[in-house]
Amino acid sequence: MKMEGNTILITGGASGIGLAFAERFLEAGNDVIICGRREDKLQAAKQKYPALHTRVCDVSKPADREALYTYVTSEFPELNVLVNNAGIQQRVDVLCATRDWNDYSQEIAANLEGPIHLTLLFVPHLRSRESAAVVNVSSGLAITPAAWAPIYSATKAGLHAFSMTLRLQLADTNVEVIEILPPAVNTDLGGIGLHTFGAPLDVFADGVFDGLRSGKSEIGFGGTQERLQFTKSEVNEAMRSMWLNFLHNNPEFRKDV
Ligand SMILES: NC(=O)c1ccc[n+]([C@@H]2O[C@H](COP(=O)([O-])OP(=O)(O)OC[C@H]3O[C@@H](n4cnc5c(N)ncnc54)[C@H](OP(=O)(O)O)[C@@H]3O)[C@@H](O)[C@H]2O)c1
Repeated sequence: MKMEGNTILITGGASGIGLAFAERFLEAGNDVIICGRREDKLQAAKQKYPALHTRVCDVSKPADREALYTYVTSEFPELNVLVNNAGIQQRVDVLCATRDWNDYSQEIAANLEGPIHLTLLFVPHLRSRESAAVVNVSSGLAITPAAWAPIYSATKAGLHAFSMTLRLQLADTNVEVIEILPPAVNTDLGGIGLHTFGAPLDVFADGVFDGLRSGKSEIGFGGTQERLQFTKSEVNEAMRSMWLNFLHNNPEFRKDV
């Protein structure tokens, strides 16, 4: 995708990976709109980067997605890039998944329904721009699912499949489809202090921007792109060793069973 002169909407742009992308897009000469659920986080981001535009939106809610689409296309008709970044991650032990279904389904609504619905809403608008892109932030876990985060892994595999189908359907159009597959990156994903074992955020974001500049349509980091070539037995082996490693490091996960 072209790296400057865009108008870009980043969902979940007030923290973590979304904010790191927002900083870099601003610096490269783009207009950037970020959204998220927490007004205070959006305001803190705006205080740091006054050029940012902010909007409260919960992408897990269909009405919020529609309101976001209406707001952005009327206030920023030059919008030409949608970055579906917002996401949550929950650890779920299927042996004691007794919480209300809404607690589980919100992960599907935020991570999968949100990006699909926003894409369907925005594609006709993106088609009207000279050059445009949909950028989906999935995960390395789309390829090698994490057994401790079964719903999350399913949503990311779904987003990976959706990105592939979208790319093929839009192949002969002005809309590029880019998927970013992060490895573990040190952010607040899943709760503060849970993602401290991953890649430093700035190093990861710089690596992704190298990938964007070089025109890649699937951008990994630290080996996640290579996972796309894994055989079935390599996927199974990676999953198994990740699961055993997780249980070793998180004995409380199964303590009540
Ligand atoms: N960090 C990793 O290790 C890692 C690895 C692979 C993939 N990813 C993916 O990268 C993306 C960004 O995650 P992150 O690591 O940067 O985590 P993060 O620091 O927790 O950031 C997630 C952002 O999404 C927003 N968000 C969450 N639910 C939302 C909703 N329903 N509506 C609108 N905004 C919402 C959050 O803001 P509010 O809470 O204010 O809404 C927050 O700003 C996610 O899709 C995640 O799955 C991360």
